[in-house]
Amino acid sequence: MKQTLSPAVPYQKKDLWISQFAHDVTLGLSQHPKSVPSRYFYDKEGDKIFQQIMNMPEYYITSCEHDIFMQQGKKMCQVFHEPGETFNLIEFGAGDGYKTKVLLKKLLEDEADFTYNPVDISKNILEELNTNLKNELPGMKVRPLNMEYFSALSKLSELNTRRNVVLFLGANIGNFSREAAGNFLSRISWYCKPGDLLLLGADLKKDPQIISLAYNDPHGITAAFNLNLLQRMNRELGADFDTNSFVHHTFYEPQSGEVLSYLVSLRRQTVRFAHINMEVSFEAFESIHTETSRKYSLSELEELAADQGFEVLEHFSDERNYFVDSLWKIR
Ligand code: AVJ
Repeated sequence: MKQTLSPAVPYQKKDLWISQFAHDVTLGLSQHPKSVPSRYFYDKEGDKIFQQIMNMPEYYITSCEHDIFMQQGKKMCQVFHEPGETFNLIEFGAGDGYKTKVLLKKLLEDEADFTYNPVDISKNILEELNTNLKNELPGMKVRPLNMEYFSALSKLSELNTRRNVVLFLGANIGNFSREAAGNFLSRISWYCKPGDLLLLGADLKKDPQIISLAYNDPHGITAAFNLNLLQRMNRELGADFDTNSFVHHTFYEPQSGEVLSYLVSLRRQTVRFAHINMEVSFEAFESIHTETSRKYSLSELEELAADQGFEVLEHFSDERNYFVDSLWKIR
Protein backbone atom coordinates (compact mmCIF):
# COMPACT_ATOMS: atom_id res chain seq x y z
CA MET A 1 0.00 0.00 0.00
CA LYS A 2 1.45 3.33 -1.05
CA GLN A 3 0.68 5.91 1.58
CA THR A 4 2.98 8.75 0.86
CA LEU A 5 1.74 12.06 -0.38
CA SER A 6 3.61 12.86 -3.53
CA PRO A 7 4.52 16.54 -3.56
CA ALA A 8 5.16 16.32 -7.30
CA VAL A 9 1.49 15.68 -8.01
CA PRO A 10 -0.34 18.98 -8.33
CA TYR A 11 -3.67 19.13 -6.53
CA GLN A 12 -6.77 19.65 -8.62
CA LYS A 13 -7.59 22.81 -6.75
CA LYS A 14 -4.93 25.11 -5.44
CA ASP A 15 -6.71 25.42 -2.11
CA LEU A 16 -4.67 24.67 0.99
CA TRP A 17 -7.86 23.23 2.35
CA ILE A 18 -7.87 20.40 -0.18
CA SER A 19 -4.42 19.35 0.85
CA GLN A 20 -5.54 19.31 4.48
CA PHE A 21 -8.33 16.97 3.38
CA ALA A 22 -5.83 14.84 1.46
CA HIS A 23 -3.55 14.79 4.47
CA ASP A 24 -6.26 13.74 6.92
CA VAL A 25 -7.65 11.10 4.55
CA THR A 26 -4.18 9.68 3.97
CA LEU A 27 -3.59 9.50 7.70
CA GLY A 28 -7.00 8.08 8.60
CA LEU A 29 -7.09 5.41 5.91
CA SER A 30 -3.56 4.20 6.55
CA GLN A 31 -4.37 3.43 10.18
CA HIS A 32 -5.93 0.29 11.59
CA PRO A 33 -8.79 0.58 12.30
CA LYS A 34 -9.51 3.06 9.52
CA SER A 35 -11.24 6.40 10.06
CA VAL A 36 -11.99 9.72 8.34
CA PRO A 37 -12.82 12.79 10.48
CA SER A 38 -16.53 13.63 10.47
CA ARG A 39 -15.87 17.30 9.68
CA TYR A 40 -15.37 16.26 6.05
CA PHE A 41 -19.07 15.42 5.74
CA TYR A 42 -19.75 19.08 5.07
CA ASP A 43 -19.04 19.88 1.45
CA LYS A 44 -21.77 21.40 -0.72
CA GLU A 45 -23.46 18.04 -1.23
CA GLY A 46 -23.08 17.07 2.45
CA ASP A 47 -24.54 20.41 3.61
CA LYS A 48 -27.63 19.68 1.51
CA ILE A 49 -28.04 16.18 2.92
CA PHE A 50 -27.53 17.44 6.47
CA GLN A 51 -30.37 19.92 5.92
CA GLN A 52 -32.56 16.95 4.93
CA ILE A 53 -31.47 15.17 8.13
CA MET A 54 -32.54 18.19 10.19
CA ASN A 55 -35.95 18.04 8.51
CA MET A 56 -36.59 14.35 9.24
CA PRO A 57 -38.98 13.60 12.11
CA GLU A 58 -36.57 10.94 13.42
CA TYR A 59 -33.81 13.53 13.94
CA TYR A 60 -35.50 15.15 16.94
CA ILE A 61 -32.45 17.30 17.84
CA THR A 62 -33.16 20.25 15.54
CA SER A 63 -36.84 20.64 16.40
CA CYS A 64 -36.14 20.21 20.14
CA GLU A 65 -33.64 23.02 20.15
CA HIS A 66 -35.86 25.17 17.93
CA ASP A 67 -38.71 24.73 20.44
CA ILE A 68 -36.44 25.53 23.38
CA PHE A 69 -35.44 28.78 21.68
CA MET A 70 -39.02 29.66 20.75
CA GLN A 71 -40.26 29.11 24.29
CA GLN A 72 -37.31 30.10 26.47
CA GLY A 73 -35.16 32.18 24.14
CA LYS A 74 -36.33 35.50 25.51
CA LYS A 75 -35.16 34.55 28.98
CA MET A 76 -31.77 33.42 27.61
CA CYS A 77 -31.27 36.63 25.66
CA GLN A 78 -31.93 38.71 28.73
CA VAL A 79 -29.00 37.03 30.45
CA PHE A 80 -26.73 37.60 27.41
CA HIS A 81 -26.36 41.33 28.02
CA GLU A 82 -27.07 44.22 30.37
CA PRO A 83 -29.35 46.88 28.87
CA GLY A 84 -27.25 49.17 26.68
CA GLU A 85 -24.19 46.91 26.75
CA THR A 86 -22.41 46.08 23.47
CA PHE A 87 -21.31 42.45 23.11
CA ASN A 88 -19.99 39.79 20.71
CA LEU A 89 -22.01 36.74 19.81
CA ILE A 90 -19.73 33.98 18.53
CA GLU A 91 -21.20 30.76 17.20
CA PHE A 92 -19.09 27.68 16.58
CA GLY A 93 -20.53 25.48 13.82
CA ALA A 94 -23.29 27.91 12.83
CA GLY A 95 -24.46 25.97 9.76
CA ASP A 96 -27.56 27.40 8.07
CA GLY A 97 -28.58 29.27 11.24
CA TYR A 98 -32.12 27.85 11.25
CA LYS A 99 -32.27 27.69 15.07
CA THR A 100 -29.95 30.58 15.86
CA LYS A 101 -32.16 32.95 13.88
CA VAL A 102 -34.81 32.50 16.56
CA LEU A 103 -32.38 33.90 19.14
CA LEU A 104 -31.07 36.60 16.80
CA LYS A 105 -34.61 37.87 16.20
CA LYS A 106 -35.29 38.03 19.93
CA LEU A 107 -32.06 39.95 20.50
CA LEU A 108 -32.99 42.44 17.77
CA GLU A 109 -36.47 42.86 19.28
CA ASP A 110 -34.72 43.72 22.56
CA GLU A 111 -32.64 46.28 20.61
CA ALA A 112 -29.47 44.50 21.73
CA ASP A 113 -26.21 45.92 20.35
CA PHE A 114 -24.03 43.05 19.16
CA THR A 115 -21.95 41.64 16.33
CA TYR A 116 -22.76 38.10 15.25
CA ASN A 117 -19.64 36.05 14.40
CA PRO A 118 -20.71 32.73 12.87
CA VAL A 119 -17.84 30.22 12.55
CA ASP A 120 -18.19 27.30 10.17
CA ILE A 121 -15.91 24.90 8.37
CA SER A 122 -18.17 24.93 5.30
CA LYS A 123 -17.61 28.00 3.13
CA ASN A 124 -20.72 27.11 1.20
CA ILE A 125 -23.12 27.08 4.17
CA LEU A 126 -21.53 30.21 5.63
CA GLU A 127 -22.17 32.13 2.41
CA GLU A 128 -25.73 30.86 2.35
CA LEU A 129 -26.18 31.99 5.97
CA ASN A 130 -24.68 35.41 5.31
CA THR A 131 -26.95 36.09 2.31
CA ASN A 132 -29.92 34.81 4.22
CA LEU A 133 -29.23 37.07 7.23
CA LYS A 134 -28.79 40.12 4.98
CA ASN A 135 -32.30 39.51 3.65
CA GLU A 136 -34.08 38.38 6.79
CA LEU A 137 -32.35 40.47 9.44
CA PRO A 138 -31.03 43.50 7.58
CA GLY A 139 -28.96 45.87 9.67
CA MET A 140 -27.56 43.17 11.94
CA LYS A 141 -23.77 43.26 12.15
CA VAL A 142 -22.37 39.96 10.86
CA ARG A 143 -18.76 38.84 10.59
CA PRO A 144 -18.56 35.31 9.15
CA LEU A 145 -15.44 33.28 9.97
CA ASN A 146 -14.77 30.40 7.57
CA MET A 147 -12.38 28.33 9.65
CA GLU A 148 -12.00 25.37 11.93
CA TYR A 149 -13.01 25.64 15.58
CA PHE A 150 -9.46 25.78 16.84
CA SER A 151 -8.39 28.56 14.49
CA ALA A 152 -11.47 30.54 15.45
CA LEU A 153 -10.72 30.20 19.15
CA SER A 154 -7.74 32.51 18.93
CA LYS A 155 -10.03 35.12 17.35
CA LEU A 156 -11.89 35.19 20.63
CA SER A 157 -9.06 36.98 22.38
CA GLU A 158 -9.17 39.74 19.72
CA LEU A 159 -12.78 40.27 20.71
CA ASN A 160 -12.00 40.59 24.37
CA THR A 161 -12.68 44.31 24.67
CA ARG A 162 -16.36 43.46 25.08
CA ARG A 163 -18.35 40.69 26.65
CA ASN A 164 -18.30 37.46 24.65
CA VAL A 165 -21.33 35.22 24.42
CA VAL A 166 -20.27 31.94 22.83
CA LEU A 167 -22.84 29.63 21.23
CA PHE A 168 -22.03 25.97 20.66
CA LEU A 169 -25.40 24.57 19.69
CA GLY A 170 -27.09 21.51 18.25
CA ALA A 171 -25.24 18.39 19.20
CA ASN A 172 -21.92 19.64 17.87
CA ILE A 173 -20.09 18.95 21.12
CA GLY A 174 -21.10 15.31 20.61
CA ASN A 175 -18.50 14.92 17.88
CA PHE A 176 -15.74 15.38 20.47
CA SER A 177 -14.43 12.62 22.72
CA ARG A 178 -14.92 13.36 26.41
CA GLU A 179 -11.32 14.44 26.62
CA ALA A 180 -11.47 16.64 23.52
CA ALA A 181 -14.67 18.25 24.79
CA GLY A 182 -12.93 19.18 28.03
CA ASN A 183 -9.99 20.50 26.09
CA PHE A 184 -12.17 22.61 23.78
CA LEU A 185 -14.16 24.07 26.67
CA SER A 186 -11.03 24.86 28.64
CA ARG A 187 -9.70 26.75 25.62
CA ILE A 188 -12.91 28.75 25.41
CA SER A 189 -12.56 29.74 29.05
CA TRP A 190 -8.85 30.49 28.47
CA TYR A 191 -9.47 32.80 25.49
CA CYS A 192 -12.44 34.52 27.09
CA LYS A 193 -12.66 36.28 30.44
CA PRO A 194 -14.57 36.00 33.71
CA GLY A 195 -18.23 36.87 33.22
CA ASP A 196 -18.32 35.78 29.55
CA LEU A 197 -21.04 33.27 28.70
CA LEU A 198 -21.34 29.97 26.90
CA LEU A 199 -24.62 28.50 25.70
CA LEU A 200 -23.89 24.82 25.12
CA GLY A 201 -26.34 22.50 23.34
CA ALA A 202 -26.16 18.80 24.15
CA ASP A 203 -28.23 15.82 23.19
CA LEU A 204 -29.27 13.95 26.33
CA LYS A 205 -29.13 10.23 27.07
CA LYS A 206 -32.57 8.75 26.53
CA ASP A 207 -34.37 5.60 25.36
CA PRO A 208 -31.79 3.96 23.04
CA GLN A 209 -34.42 3.21 20.40
CA ILE A 210 -35.13 6.90 19.90
CA ILE A 211 -31.43 7.69 19.52
CA SER A 212 -30.81 4.74 17.20
CA LEU A 213 -33.61 5.77 14.88
CA ALA A 214 -32.25 9.31 14.60
CA TYR A 215 -28.99 7.96 13.15
CA ASN A 216 -30.46 5.04 11.26
CA ASP A 217 -33.45 6.53 9.52
CA PRO A 218 -35.76 4.47 7.29
CA HIS A 219 -35.42 7.01 4.45
CA GLY A 220 -31.72 6.26 3.97
CA ILE A 221 -30.82 9.93 4.33
CA THR A 222 -28.20 9.38 7.04
CA ALA A 223 -26.72 6.55 4.98
CA ALA A 224 -26.46 8.93 2.00
CA PHE A 225 -24.84 11.53 4.30
CA ASN A 226 -22.11 9.06 5.28
CA LEU A 227 -21.66 7.67 1.76
CA ASN A 228 -21.16 11.22 0.49
CA LEU A 229 -17.80 11.09 2.26
CA LEU A 230 -16.70 8.45 -0.28
CA GLN A 231 -18.13 10.52 -3.13
CA ARG A 232 -16.27 13.57 -1.85
CA MET A 233 -13.02 11.59 -1.93
CA ASN A 234 -13.89 10.58 -5.49
CA ARG A 235 -14.58 14.19 -6.48
CA GLU A 236 -11.75 15.95 -4.72
CA LEU A 237 -9.02 13.32 -4.47
CA GLY A 238 -9.73 11.41 -7.68
CA ALA A 239 -10.58 8.24 -5.75
CA ASP A 240 -12.55 5.42 -7.35
CA PHE A 241 -14.76 4.26 -4.47
CA ASP A 242 -17.66 2.11 -5.64
CA THR A 243 -20.26 3.42 -3.21
CA ASN A 244 -22.50 0.41 -3.85
CA SER A 245 -19.94 -1.83 -2.21
CA PHE A 246 -20.09 0.01 1.12
CA VAL A 247 -22.91 0.05 3.68
CA HIS A 248 -23.62 2.49 6.47
CA HIS A 249 -23.73 0.94 9.94
CA THR A 250 -24.49 2.77 13.17
CA PHE A 251 -25.43 1.90 16.75
CA TYR A 252 -25.84 3.52 20.18
CA GLU A 253 -23.72 2.34 23.10
CA PRO A 254 -25.62 3.40 26.22
CA GLN A 255 -22.71 3.33 28.69
CA SER A 256 -20.36 5.65 26.85
CA GLY A 257 -23.35 7.48 25.38
CA GLU A 258 -21.78 7.21 21.93
CA VAL A 259 -23.49 6.73 18.60
CA LEU A 260 -20.78 5.17 16.44
CA SER A 261 -21.04 5.36 12.65
CA TYR A 262 -19.16 3.32 10.10
CA LEU A 263 -18.94 2.63 6.39
CA VAL A 264 -18.35 -1.10 5.92
CA SER A 265 -16.76 -2.55 2.79
CA LEU A 266 -18.86 -5.47 1.56
CA ARG A 267 -15.95 -7.03 -0.26
CA ARG A 268 -12.21 -7.18 -0.48
CA GLN A 269 -11.14 -4.30 -2.70
CA THR A 270 -8.47 -1.75 -3.48
CA VAL A 271 -9.31 1.93 -3.98
CA ARG A 272 -7.04 4.20 -5.99
CA PHE A 273 -6.67 7.91 -5.25
CA ALA A 274 -5.47 9.31 -8.56
CA HIS A 275 -4.72 12.88 -7.42
CA ILE A 276 -2.54 11.90 -4.49
CA ASN A 277 -0.94 8.76 -5.85
CA MET A 278 -2.28 6.51 -3.12
CA GLU A 279 -3.93 3.11 -2.92
CA VAL A 280 -5.93 1.80 0.00
CA SER A 281 -6.89 -1.85 0.41
CA PHE A 282 -9.94 -3.10 2.27
CA GLU A 283 -10.48 -6.61 3.59
CA ALA A 284 -14.01 -7.92 3.20
CA PHE A 285 -16.11 -6.23 5.93
CA GLU A 286 -13.35 -3.91 7.00
CA SER A 287 -14.82 -0.55 8.05
CA ILE A 288 -14.10 3.17 8.15
CA HIS A 289 -15.16 4.91 11.35
CA THR A 290 -16.88 8.09 10.19
CA GLU A 291 -18.43 9.70 13.26
CA THR A 292 -18.98 9.62 17.00
CA SER A 293 -22.07 11.46 18.29
CA ARG A 294 -21.93 11.52 22.06
CA LYS A 295 -24.96 11.88 24.32
CA TYR A 296 -24.68 13.40 27.77
CA SER A 297 -26.50 13.27 31.08
CA LEU A 298 -27.08 16.50 33.01
CA SER A 299 -24.65 15.39 35.70
CA GLU A 300 -21.94 14.70 33.10
CA LEU A 301 -22.46 18.21 31.74
CA GLU A 302 -22.23 19.69 35.22
CA GLU A 303 -19.01 17.82 35.84
CA LEU A 304 -17.61 19.08 32.53
CA ALA A 305 -18.52 22.66 33.45
CA ALA A 306 -16.95 22.45 36.91
CA ASP A 307 -13.77 20.80 35.57
CA GLN A 308 -13.20 23.59 33.03
CA GLY A 309 -13.89 26.60 35.21
CA PHE A 310 -17.51 27.34 34.35
CA GLU A 311 -20.47 27.99 36.60
CA VAL A 312 -23.74 26.47 35.36
CA LEU A 313 -26.37 29.22 35.43
CA GLU A 314 -29.34 27.31 34.03
CA HIS A 315 -30.38 24.26 32.02
CA PHE A 316 -33.01 24.97 29.35
CA SER A 317 -34.71 21.72 28.31
CA ASP A 318 -37.69 20.64 26.23
CA GLU A 319 -40.67 18.97 27.95
CA ARG A 320 -39.50 15.45 27.11
CA ASN A 321 -35.94 16.16 28.31
CA TYR A 322 -34.50 15.00 25.01
CA PHE A 323 -32.14 17.93 24.64
CA VAL A 324 -30.60 20.70 26.73
CA ASP A 325 -29.20 24.16 26.11
CA SER A 326 -27.07 24.79 29.14
CA LEU A 327 -26.02 28.34 30.00
CA TRP A 328 -22.59 28.64 31.63
CA LYS A 329 -20.56 31.55 32.94
CA ILE A 330 -16.78 31.74 33.01
CA ARG A 331 -15.54 32.08 36.58
C1 AVJ B 1 -24.01 18.00 13.29
C2 AVJ B 1 -22.62 16.64 14.67
C3 AVJ B 1 -24.66 17.50 15.54
O1 AVJ B 1 -23.95 14.17 15.47
O2 AVJ B 1 -26.08 14.56 15.47
C4 AVJ B 1 -26.46 13.79 12.06
C5 AVJ B 1 -24.32 15.12 12.63
N1 AVJ B 1 -24.62 12.74 11.87
N2 AVJ B 1 -26.73 12.53 11.66
C6 AVJ B 1 -24.95 14.74 15.01
C7 AVJ B 1 -25.12 13.91 12.21
C8 AVJ B 1 -25.59 11.90 11.53
C9 AVJ B 1 -24.80 15.76 13.88
N3 AVJ B 1 -24.01 16.95 14.34
